[in-house]
Amino acid sequence: MANAVIHTSRQIAQLRQACNLAAETLLLVGQKLQAGMTTDDINTLVHQHTLTQDAWPAPLNYRGSYPKSVCTSVNEVICHGIPGPQVLRDGDIINVDVTTIFPKKGGWYGDTSATFYVGDPSPMARHVVEVCRVSLELALAAARPGATLGDIGWAIQQYAESKGCSVVRDYTGHGIGRIFHGPPSVKHYGRPGTGLRLKPGMTFTIEPMINLGTPEVAHLDDGWTAITADRSLSAQFEHTLVITHDGCDVLTRRNAVLVNSEDKPWVEKLPLSCFVADDANARAILAEVGVSV
Ligand code: MF3
Ligand code: CO
Ligand code: CO
Repeated sequence: MANAVIHTSRQIAQLRQACNLAAETLLLVGQKLQAGMTTDDINTLVHQHTLTQDAWPAPLNYRGSYPKSVCTSVNEVICHGIPGPQVLRDGDIINVDVTTIFPKKGGWYGDTSATFYVGDPSPMARHVVEVCRVSLELALAAARPGATLGDIGWAIQQYAESKGCSVVRDYTGHGIGRIFHGPPSVKHYGRPGTGLRLKPGMTFTIEPMINLGTPEVAHLDDGWTAITADRSLSAQFEHTLVITHDGCDVLTRRNAVLVNSEDKPWVEKLPLSCFVADDANARAILAEVGVSV
């Protein structure tokens, strides 16, 4: 496999622009989301907002075959759900995955997703979503120079499995920059100290897919939609980040609370998506919001 690209600070500044728009678009989706909407309505919102900003939705025509501008993955759909006539109902959970590119400004990609609550989902639905959200925060806290991809995978796996959930193996995070999907492949499971050693300037996504049941995947015959083989609920969160000299910078971090998803003020409480923390720090912060790891 080709090597992970090391980016300059000038390149990171350009990547950050695409990431900022992706993050802002996700915030907008959260504000508009409600029961009765179709997944196609979300597609229209993302498509139009992106074009208004002189950017382009990277999924559209991806690999010559993805037909829409965003992925919308409802309930047992793990990822790559295609927007359409499906109406969102009270109690659904839905991942919305936004990837933005500025074709006229160097062609940098920003990739981020979150799982939202439609109305008032069940405690089990909230469980898998919150476990997934926290697992990504822990992974981000582990992302720093000298750490390995195995450390990141382990942070996710040990937490998710300790909470009775499972980690999807069939899809990974990925290097990102002027290409959508490049090396390295970022597994959401693994063992500490194994795999690629991280260096400042590496840019990649972390995007754990966490299931309430078993980790096995099945596919719909549309060629894209991945669902849980046991039809259990699945959640996903994704950020694009750069490794810095002392940790990581979450390029798709949000500057506000994600409506219909974050029922705690995560933006004020947690690393990540907000600031860099070492493991001990992350644990302390998570303990403060009632999560023990
Ligand atoms: N955004 C997805 C990811 O996180 C990829 C979607 S590809 C598409 O990597 F074609 F399905 F949109
Ligand atoms: Co991605
Ligand atoms: Co994505």
